Amino acid sequence: MLEAIKETAAFISRKLDPVPSTAIILGTGLGGIVDEMTEKQTLDYHDIPNFPVSTVEGHKGMLITGKLGKREVLVMQGRFHYYEGYTMQEVTFPVRVMKFLGVKQLIVSNAAGGMNPEFRVGDIMIINDHINTMPNPLIGVHHPEFGARFPDMSQPYNRKIIDLARTIARELNIPVREGCYVGVTGPTLETPKEYEYMRIIGGDAVGMSTVPESIVAHQMGIDVFALSVITDLGVPGKILPLTHQDVIDAAGRVTPQLTRLIVKLIERLN
Ligand code: HPA
Repeated sequence: MLEAIKETAAFISRKLDPVPSTAIILGTGLGGIVDEMTEKQTLDYHDIPNFPVSTVEGHKGMLITGKLGKREVLVMQGRFHYYEGYTMQEVTFPVRVMKFLGVKQLIVSNAAGGMNPEFRVGDIMIINDHINTMPNPLIGVHHPEFGARFPDMSQPYNRKIIDLARTIARELNIPVREGCYVGVTGPTLETPKEYEYMRIIGGDAVGMSTVPESIVAHQMGIDVFALSVITDLGVPGKILPLTHQDVIDAAGRVTPQLTRLIVKLIERLN
């Protein structure tokens, strides 16, 4: 796997030169951030050696560099989910590649269901912890280049970036929540009792992504900042039938706010 990672990193750095030190993984329905970028260079996942290819509606499958506000960023528009049938190594492959490309900070976004009874559809939640119920992405062969075999997880989401994001949200008058994201395999959404269970164990939101990428990035020494857009509620009495299109639409409505927050945040990252 190490050879494939290095080969892919070498390919990308030839095509997208220079590679920015900040990367963003865009979640379901949040691809609109790319419309705000200028001076774009684009690589289709299909054209990147060893890259898996995204199959889900609402995920485009492009690696893009360009300016977001005043800063250069590397954007993954479309990510790989475990429920699509990829192995965890495939799901997290692009994050490994990022490290070899020199990425220092990773911003991850997702659409999620909210279990916290104070949450509303359309809320933005800063992820300050997670509970992983998926297979761990670090199971398998370990290479010292990846980082620790047994990574510390006392603070997987970078405290300084969380503080900065909170400050910026206040300045921009964008209300934000904070909480714990429960990572599940999907692809089923939760039953009422499953939502209740995830609330009891400490979850504020639940979704099918982000945790594998965050674990791998953290292991490799990349600073991780992650956000959920609450697209539906898993709160007793507020659970409604849900389609994937509902999730895409609800996330899309928050894209303008999320974009403003991320643009300012990136501007002020070191
Ligand atoms: N559960 C799991 N994943 C999700 C949800 C949900 O309610 N909403 C958006 N992604």
